[in-house]
Amino acid sequence: MALDLILAALHHPLLPGEARQQRLYRLLRSAILDGRLSAGWRLPGSRQLAKDCRMARNGVLFAYQQLLSEGFLVADRGGTHVASLPSPAAAAPVTAVPGDILSRRAVGLAGSRLPEELLPFAPGVADLNAFPWPVWSRFLQQAWREVSARQLAYAEPGGEPALRRSLATFLRVRRGVVCLPEQIFIVAGGQLALDACARLLADPGDRVWLENPCYQAARNTMLAAGLEVVDVPVDAAGMAPPDALWRDKPPRLLYLTPSHQYPLGSVLSLERRLAFLNQLKPGANWLIEDDYDSDFHHARPGGRPLPAMQGLCPDAPVIYVGTFSKLLYPGLRIAYMVVPRWATEAFGAAIAALYRGGQAVEQRALARFIDSGRLTRHIQRMAPRYRQRQQVLRQALLDGLAEPCAILGGEAGLHLTVRLPAAAPDRTLVAAAARHGLAVRALSSYFADARGDNGLVLGYGMAEAERIPELVQRLCLALAEAKVADYPANS
Ligand SMILES: Cc1ncc(COP(=O)(O)O)c(C=O)c1O
Repeated sequence: MALDLILAALHHPLLPGEARQQRLYRLLRSAILDGRLSAGWRLPGSRQLAKDCRMARNGVLFAYQQLLSEGFLVADRGGTHVASLPSPAAAAPVTAVPGDILSRRAVGLAGSRLPEELLPFAPGVADLNAFPWPVWSRFLQQAWREVSARQLAYAEPGGEPALRRSLATFLRVRRGVVCLPEQIFIVAGGQLALDACARLLADPGDRVWLENPCYQAARNTMLAAGLEVVDVPVDAAGMAPPDALWRDKPPRLLYLTPSHQYPLGSVLSLERRLAFLNQLKPGANWLIEDDYDSDFHHARPGGRPLPAMQGLCPDAPVIYVGTFSKLLYPGLRIAYMVVPRWATEAFGAAIAALYRGGQAVEQRALARFIDSGRLTRHIQRMAPRYRQRQQVLRQALLDGLAEPCAILGGEAGLHLTVRLPAAAPDRTLVAAAARHGLAVRALSSYFADARGDNGLVLGYGMAEAERIPELVQRLCLALAEAKVADYPANS
């Protein structure tokens, strides 16, 4: 009989943290749900059951009370019975689902699998070993000492005022961004900023121009928002739209990485910057300027990055997006959007309606970190290291790769892109490199279609200069293997 089996199961070892009375509750509940105890069945009295199970009566009363309060049991003058419930969900494990699990838009998302972030050559990762966490933790501690209930609630719309003020100055000095603190909106990551643009500034079916090749997460965000993507080619001077495109397919959104195109590394020329800005019309289109890693500009005098497009025309419909993922660490999840003054109110209300902010303590610590000059000092410490790593990587690639290859970009940031002959398909090479402990990415995976260039995107943020020659040797071995072996792509 079902009850005997339940009582026998009571004597099996308990789950971690489980008391016997909880186990009795759980066993009775699942027997009711799967129909072993049927509707109307009368349960034994608590005294009797306690005796049968050799447990305290209070424990049985606990289980009964719990099941009564959840509606699995009903009590009346005749005793305690199993409630009459709609037939329970099939107990069999689900092996096939007749409908669609994901929306059609989500099925179209590609290439979003993150590589092992801490493996050598993972693109876009800052040197997390060099992050000054003893200093940072002092700033955090100070912020925690001053905390009140206000900072534990949802963050103020737009973010902590202190951070918005610090950023307004920092961005003006370092990036030529012209804005007031109230034009700055702190968000939990650059990716969320792109999501906010896609959902708050465009409607499903609206057109977005993306760079081709493009940052995969930007493409995914736009597709998930139901936008129509137009892939625009990129050359050595950045996005290069054909002349007729503005007339034939004007965009609602235009996504650019002008300071350091991701992944090709080109810098958008001043001429093109001005041409794009001239085409924009407030209310008709928006340009998203993703300035994700330009604080490390290796080619320009003093390592100063090219000033932001936003500052060329502060009233243009430009959303400037920046992140602390490359400057500090990605797990911090603090990024920001700068919106034009005339859009601040409408945008502020919409973003507050859609997302809840947090991390007020981290934001306050970050404001002090910036104001104290620590952030600038950190940038000054890291910039020469990244520059050196890039030079060493470039040379090691030129020395080590037997194939004719083209090394692209390198003026800024944390990655180099290498174009390779098609003999070693890059997706095969990625799998071969993974076997050598390297997390490179296939250049072709950034392109909108299969005809994309063959090559690799190599991050040097985490690769110390002394290790790079040996890492490149491993890459060369992988390249040789990829040409002869049939590695399954992305295995
Ligand atoms: C081109 C580009 N834009 C934006 C981001 C956003 O970074 P996060 O979401 O970590 O702030 C990244 C991160 O890798 C990136 O590579």
